[in-house]
Amino acid sequence: MEVFVTAGPEEAARRAARVVIEAVAESVAAGRAPVVGLATGSSPLGLYKELALAVDRGQVDFSEAYGFALDEYVGLPAGHPESYREVLVAEVCRRVGLAPERLHVPDGSGRNESELAAGAARYEELIRGVGGIDVQILGIGRNGHIGFNEPGSSLTSRTRVKRLSSRTRADNARFFESLDDVPTHCVTQGLGTVLEARRLLLVATGASKAPAVAAAVEGPLTASCPGSVLQFHADALVVVDEAAAAGLRNREYYDESAAGL
Ligand code: F6R
Repeated sequence: MEVFVTAGPEEAARRAARVVIEAVAESVAAGRAPVVGLATGSSPLGLYKELALAVDRGQVDFSEAYGFALDEYVGLPAGHPESYREVLVAEVCRRVGLAPERLHVPDGSGRNESELAAGAARYEELIRGVGGIDVQILGIGRNGHIGFNEPGSSLTSRTRVKRLSSRTRADNARFFESLDDVPTHCVTQGLGTVLEARRLLLVATGASKAPAVAAAVEGPLTASCPGSVLQFHADALVVVDEAAAAGLRNREYYDESAAGL
């Protein structure tokens, strides 16, 4: 795992954008359509803006790329502005020129457990069908979740329906009119699904993320902190600003390593 600590969120966004741009270039060089795994929430917004600027400068092109969302709420009507499909169309597709038809999002429209499970299985097939995800962008919840794999999620889990913890619902209430409007369930890529991406890129900024970042990066590998699965991946990058890095004990070494050979 590599850890990059930046002065602030803007620099974190620029550093993370470089990682995505490199991954896209590598896929194109290998003759594959780039496949980018997309997180929602606040953490990657700066990164998406930086990618849009890079597109404008001609440094990267997403017209042949596929996007795969990490997760989707269950039960929001199609077109709901807070559904992750709509959020990603607005924040990613429109900004970077990724065709909405090439954006895939887990199907949260199933009316019961078996319909949701069937949709989740189709999502796994879609990811396999494009040859896997090249770079998976991740944020982390204050309780250590990645995707909506809440604490206790199996480290080998696949895309499936999950209940959101009350802490996550409270955190996400800022996007809805009231807490009661926040869905109780979601369909999320599993931790096993996430681990199959060729590269993982976790972005976290702000002091509220410091305990989760410390637990994910330096704590034990445990289902109690789903973000700790990054330790199990051969190519995981963590980009954090000073505030989110505050709990890291091994900071000096990360800075030395970031200085390069
Ligand atoms: C979103 C997702 C979540 C968020 C996490 C952090 O697709 O999968 O894991 O990344 O809840 O959210 P923010 O970035 O809003 O703090």
